[in-house]
Amino acid sequence: MARIQVETRINGQSQEFLCDANQSMLDVLREELGLTGTKEGCATGDCGACSIIVDGRLVCSCLMLGAEAEGKDVETIEGIAGEELHPLQQKFLEHAALQCGICTPGIIVAAKALLEKNPDPDETTIRYWLAGNLCRCTGYDKIIRAVQDAAKELAHPV
Ligand code: FES
Ligand code: FES
Repeated sequence: MARIQVETRINGQSQEFLCDANQSMLDVLREELGLTGTKEGCATGDCGACSIIVDGRLVCSCLMLGAEAEGKDVETIEGIAGEELHPLQQKFLEHAALQCGICTPGIIVAAKALLEKNPDPDETTIRYWLAGNLCRCTGYDKIIRAVQDAAKELAHPV
């Protein structure tokens, strides 16, 4: 089968790749580009482990074709940190908001998308926004507190 050439931007860098017509963006990231921070939990759009941001919108990369990345701006967990950890990453560490870590990249990417839309979300809003990101380990409370603290730090950097 002929492969499709795709030109896109990933984490601020121009990126070209070849993919099959039916290959998911999750598979492209992990298998073609070595960006394995994006996790596969279910591959059916149910767990949120594969969350990425595409042109500012939160997307399950297992439900997106690689070919759909043509001309788009894609952000993955690998692009979240600058020279230092992103406040969300730092607060997840401080609150011990992760255990096995499989869900963590997707939740941090999803939370970043939320804070870009709504820098001061209340707890209900955070829980509602993250409802599509499943975690079997933490019980969610530490995750919510980490996101709340990160929002405060982003609003008032020390
Ligand atoms: Fe995409 Fe679970 S791997 S939603
Ligand atoms: Fe294990 Fe969330 S930390 S699934």
